[in-house]
Amino acid sequence: MHKILIKNIQQLAQVREVGRAPVKGENMSELPSIFDAWLAIENDIIVGYGNMADWPGINDWSNLEVIDASGKIILPCYCDSHTHIVFAGTREGEFVDRINGLSYEEIALRGGGINNSAKKMQEANEEQLYEDALKRINEMISQGTGAIEIKSGYGLSFESELKMLSVIKKLKETLPIPIKSTFLGAHAIPPAYKENREAYINLIINEMLPAIAKAQLADYCDVFCERNYFSPDETLQILMAAKKYGMIAKVHAEQLSNSGGVMAGIKANAISVDHLEYVGDAEIEALLNSNTMPVILPGAAFFLSLPNPPAKKMIAAGLPVAIASDFNPGSSPSGNMNLMNAIACIQYGLTPEQTVNASTINGAHAMGLTSHYGSISIGKKANIIITREVPSLAYLTYAFGSNLIDQVYINGKLFNGSILPV
Ligand code: NIG
Ligand code: FE
Repeated sequence: MHKILIKNIQQLAQVREVGRAPVKGENMSELPSIFDAWLAIENDIIVGYGNMADWPGINDWSNLEVIDASGKIILPCYCDSHTHIVFAGTREGEFVDRINGLSYEEIALRGGGINNSAKKMQEANEEQLYEDALKRINEMISQGTGAIEIKSGYGLSFESELKMLSVIKKLKETLPIPIKSTFLGAHAIPPAYKENREAYINLIINEMLPAIAKAQLADYCDVFCERNYFSPDETLQILMAAKKYGMIAKVHAEQLSNSGGVMAGIKANAISVDHLEYVGDAEIEALLNSNTMPVILPGAAFFLSLPNPPAKKMIAAGLPVAIASDFNPGSSPSGNMNLMNAIACIQYGLTPEQTVNASTINGAHAMGLTSHYGSISIGKKANIIITREVPSLAYLTYAFGSNLIDQVYINGKLFNGSILPV
């Protein structure tokens, strides 16, 4: 057995006895912490914590590593509940097109955007996709992420969607962090179906879903509910069909307009609705009467210069909010959750404590992982961030350009920069 005792921790943050429920409304301002703390880990599990005044007497020094974290903060790893990190090629050409005046929607209507990534995906092989995704995951872990959801949606054909999902399955099976898989066949209408969108929806429902369910390739089903993409009715139709196969709903909702995605998601009892730049009062009211987690994606809103999602208003209304990276080649080419939290503080007016709740426990909730992740709780996995020496928790989002992550432990093991598949 390998035991670790970390001592003199300036602030052990997000300590919760239970740590299962989403954190909502005014509770989001509270980040339960122990100052001048110790933390004990046995193998891959958190087994104890407390104040240095109650430092546990050590009788048995065998296999025990003692670490001094003076001046440092410890947090549970970030839980990134919305990513598209399996992709082929990058799209910085479109980025420059946008700088030169085209909009994200104009680029998509010209055949760019998601369909551009779909073309590249069709030619990609599984080994290369796996290797590229692994590099991205290694970077994300070094930035503090310890649990990830990954979507398909750059396939947009039967073969190509299944290829993406197989890559995600292999990542799930070979990596030491939890990965949730989401089928996002309804990410865009492929060009061949432009005049016959119904046929593409039928392909999703009658062919893709049964095959994906049979091979157990997806935990969730997601739809991009947006003008020029999928209507609220189509969204609901796809999500209800997926539900029959046990896939839980998620929705890309209200990103570019007030699209009706939140309402469709709630009707399908979605575990989360994500983006939310154009959420209005009616959606906030409906979310309050639901079990659906609102997820904001600061990287995408920042990168596309979208309006700020009304995160502060949602929290004031009593809702929980989660933060995810949306890491993808078109609208958020970053999986750095430190940056996402900083944007939420700087642009949306969330407090540093609110962003930690949003990116850890609420992120875990948005992918059904709170039993083992998202907080410092006895019995949970020892996936933790040790920061550099910092003056306070607020400094983490204040000094937004600095790398303030010193070390990351995954399953009680120090992450060395590149996880090898197990
Ligand atoms: O979450 N909004 C739709 N889907 C992605 C963007 C995908 C892309 O542009 O490649 C998103 O922002
Ligand atoms: Fe997305």
